[in-house]
Amino acid sequence: MKVGIVNVTGYAGLELARLLQAHPEVELTQVTGRSAAGQRLSDIFPNLTGPDLPITAEFEEAVDVAFSALPHAASAAAVIKLLESGVKAIDISADFRLKDPAVYEQWYQVAHPAPELLHEAVYGLPEIYRDQIKQARLIANPGCYPTSAILALAPVADIIEPDIIVDSKSGVSGAGRTLSFTTHYSEVNESCQAYSIGGHRHLPEIVQEVASARERALGRDEAVSMLFVPHLVPMTRGILSDCYARLAVPLSAAQLRDRYREFYRDAPFVRIVDRPPQTKHTWGSNYCVICPCVDERTNRLIVLSCLDNLVKGAAGQAVQNMNLMMGFAETTGIEATPFYP
Ligand SMILES: NC(=O)c1ccc[n+]([C@@H]2O[C@H](COP(=O)([O-])OP(=O)(O)OC[C@H]3O[C@@H](n4cnc5c(N)ncnc54)[C@H](OP(=O)(O)O)[C@@H]3O)[C@@H](O)[C@H]2O)c1
Repeated sequence: MKVGIVNVTGYAGLELARLLQAHPEVELTQVTGRSAAGQRLSDIFPNLTGPDLPITAEFEEAVDVAFSALPHAASAAAVIKLLESGVKAIDISADFRLKDPAVYEQWYQVAHPAPELLHEAVYGLPEIYRDQIKQARLIANPGCYPTSAILALAPVADIIEPDIIVDSKSGVSGAGRTLSFTTHYSEVNESCQAYSIGGHRHLPEIVQEVASARERALGRDEAVSMLFVPHLVPMTRGILSDCYARLAVPLSAAQLRDRYREFYRDAPFVRIVDRPPQTKHTWGSNYCVICPCVDERTNRLIVLSCLDNLVKGAAGQAVQNMNLMMGFAETTGIEATPFYP
């Protein structure tokens, strides 16, 4: 089976190339780039060890499945073309994640380029939507912060008060490869800073999915109030999300962990642990490691969730989705153990 990457030259595209070159069931045959068109993969990314493909402006041969790793809006335009030519598409951008085009426009400051596709796009979080993903021709691959927060909150969405705080820390690769003042080495190194206090673009995505999980469990649609504060920390990869909410029912720590283990019993990439995880426990891997805790003094739930933003938060999850869409074992090509330290 032939696969292609639209826009291989960003960090998400590079991570896709790394995973797809090693995937036993598919062949990466086409990679595109804008300013890098005309060069070869090895010119841009000498770390890659697979076939040294030319980077082209457009796909030059047919593929069966394509991944788009373009920025939002540009990605939707590429996805429309892929679907029109009969190619299954996995979109790493935010373009098809939000179900309401008005919410998309509010947060991304651009009219949605293809609202007619929103009802068809499947939110590509396999732990929640595995059956729908298997049938899909368009996947909206979840954001990196949302993956960590939604996996942390979905098992308890119906037993917490819907007033939630998500406090996240991200490595700098989450901001992409494009240079910017705020991700410059001397700005980030030995420093830690909160950003987007007034509202980050990933907030409506987390709210949408936590509200859906709550609705599925309780059978009623209720507003979810959420505060989301992301931070940039001086590391290359990784996200740690600390999620806080008041429990609506009394629950011991052991009962809580049992609930998570039961919820994720068929999820090969979610590990429930008893001790606070480190981002390094997920480096280079497709695992999300979750530690659910109860603070009995305040009757609050504290759920700690770690993942690698470029793997489970982007390219690895995209490959997991492809595996499900194409009928491969869900873990194919992405089973690697995290490297540590
Ligand atoms: N980084 C993450 O952890 C992460 C996680 C989940 C999802 N994502 C999503 O993945 C997508 C790519 O993010 P990234 O982090 O890989 O970005 P990035 O490293 O900053 O790369 C952006 C790349 O896109 C190209 N580009 C920018 N605008 C373009 C346009 N209009 N048309 C064609 N090429 C364009 C640039 O190429 P030129 O050299 O031509 O300028 C650059 O190589 C985004 O939608 C992002 O939201 C990223």
